[in-house]
Amino acid sequence: MGLLIKGGEIVTAETRQKGDIFIENETISAIGSGLAVPPGTEVVDAAGKLVFPGFIDPHVHIHLPFMGTFAKENHAAASAAALIGGTTSFIEMACPSRKEDALETYHIWKQKAEGNSACDYAFHMGVTRYDAKTEAQLTEIVKDGTTSFKIFLSYKNFFGVDDEEMFHTLKLAAKLGIITTAHCENAELVGQLQQLLLAEGKTGPEWHEPSRPEAVEAEGTTRFATFVEQTGATGYVVHLSCAPALRVAVDAKMRGVKLHIESVLPHFLLDKSYAERAGVEGMKHIMSPPLRDKRNLPVLWNALKSGLIETVGTDHCPFDTEQKLMGAKAFTQIPNGIPGIEDRVNLMYTYGVKRGGLDIHRFVDALSTRPARLFGLFPRKGTIAAGADADLVVYDTKYRGKISAATQHGINNYNGFEGFEIEGRPSVVTVRGKVQARDGNFVGKPGIGRLLRREPQCN
Ligand code: URP
Ligand code: ZN
Ligand code: ZN
Repeated sequence: MGLLIKGGEIVTAETRQKGDIFIENETISAIGSGLAVPPGTEVVDAAGKLVFPGFIDPHVHIHLPFMGTFAKENHAAASAAALIGGTTSFIEMACPSRKEDALETYHIWKQKAEGNSACDYAFHMGVTRYDAKTEAQLTEIVKDGTTSFKIFLSYKNFFGVDDEEMFHTLKLAAKLGIITTAHCENAELVGQLQQLLLAEGKTGPEWHEPSRPEAVEAEGTTRFATFVEQTGATGYVVHLSCAPALRVAVDAKMRGVKLHIESVLPHFLLDKSYAERAGVEGMKHIMSPPLRDKRNLPVLWNALKSGLIETVGTDHCPFDTEQKLMGAKAFTQIPNGIPGIEDRVNLMYTYGVKRGGLDIHRFVDALSTRPARLFGLFPRKGTIAAGADADLVVYDTKYRGKISAATQHGINNYNGFEGFEIEGRPSVVTVRGKVQARDGNFVGKPGIGRLLRREPQCN
């Protein structure tokens, strides 16, 4: 049976036109006006609504052993929340600790997602050690269709790689023709600054940002860019948070380094005053790189508008308040991360497109098309075109609501964006032609999501 999305305003990264979209066998088979409706076709009335390509979150954590606990998340809940919010595919970080075997980890992550995710998914393979086995293991993982790496310059002794390991990872990535994503903070400086602050009795969440100041992120970004340049690799800076890091990343781009820049939802909407709130209220807003001084927010928005910041992810990484309180005596023990997979599209639409002057095509590009292009998913994902997967978001721009933990679908017990107004919400969300969410509810089949096997994407 076919599905017809009828009479919506179809908005892609490049075009905007009224029309119908016909879907057969999971893919878009025709786009036009007044398309004929074969008997048995299910019709979705999209009149008065926008129709976007399914949004892609390029940076999420679901299964994540981290900081002495596990992210409060699972694939069934995260994917349902993602779909309700208009995200139809995500790329999860598969992150072994330095002690764990890369290939075993990769299979564990795959098993966790398989049959449980309601939307499609892929992985960035975390490279957290580089030893004699690494090249063969990573080559096997890339052959399996996981064609991007993730490295951490921070989190010393847990996920963090040293410069030698970064060099070898980037060299291998260049040889395999794949992109390497990186968390860019200087691990040594973070560790030393944390100890200094704690020794001065500065233990609350408000000291998290001073322990990882903007210069520490700028140094990590500079070093990553330099290593990318010297190895001929392609790099992607994840969750860039501040003007000094942006400046050095743009400087590298301008001298021809193949470097791409992502920022994430919290850095566009929240500043460090949220993390400076007393007790657990502050802890809810601890992530790394930290929420920054508010002077950075317009800089990030402007960079997004102009395309210097190319993509917007969430860095979805939920820990509940009980877990956050593990850091009640020392901010260094607060599990880092803020959830957001359900809210990215609505918040970026509201504060970007509706209220902030973000061009609607740039919005689609940053949240869907560009992640698809950079990570080898385009044109299967990230656009509305004949032959593409029928991942579509029929978007109701007249909806008005507020973000609240009381009404969210994620399993965490708080929402870092509590009380934020939204002006718009997905009305119908499809994954390969199946209606999976409607008007704030998951209505589809759990577990139908597929692993997206990708080809190497860098030339
Ligand atoms: O605070 C964060 N960002 N938590 C998740 C792990 C990471 O660094 O991406
Ligand atoms: Zn990170
Ligand atoms: Zn992350």
